[in-house]
Amino acid sequence: MKILMVCLGNICRSPLAEGILKSKLPDTFEVDSAGTIDMHQGSQPDKRSVEIALKNGLDISEQCSRPILLSDLDYYDKIYCMDKNNLRDVLSLAKNEQQKSKVSLLMQDLGLENYSIEVPDPYWSGAEGFEKVFRQIYDACEIISKKLIKSFAESHN
Ligand code: 4NP
Repeated sequence: MKILMVCLGNICRSPLAEGILKSKLPDTFEVDSAGTIDMHQGSQPDKRSVEIALKNGLDISEQCSRPILLSDLDYYDKIYCMDKNNLRDVLSLAKNEQQKSKVSLLMQDLGLENYSIEVPDPYWSGAEGFEKVFRQIYDACEIISKKLIKSFAESHN
């Protein structure tokens, strides 16, 4: 099963989401991330994301920013968007209902009432913004990883 995490620049939120979800899934799952813009293509994650991940035992420094490709909508089984702008931009690339059905907000249907439905962009915030975003993505991925493992098991029975 293949999962893609998407934000705007693919340097702050989605690299964290990739690293966190990967750490919670067995190797039978493939997890990657991408941005809706190509401005940071080829860059490492923002150092504030690298730092908060390291503080929590995850090394995301080897990741490399890339823009989402049209082919991603066929290749990946699930595409999780950090905010509503990302969702709109990814859906605008979808060519059919099957592609659209793979795309959702990360926070959708998780029952995490204490968080906003969007993962806020921490780019212009300080370290505190990155701590908050890390916690939000972490709690979401805790639930999503269990759901994915369950649905993978069900589809292979
Ligand atoms: P991200 O954060 O979408 O979580 O990677 C941002 C990265 C770059 C910019 C904005 C948000 N930017 O304006 O360059």
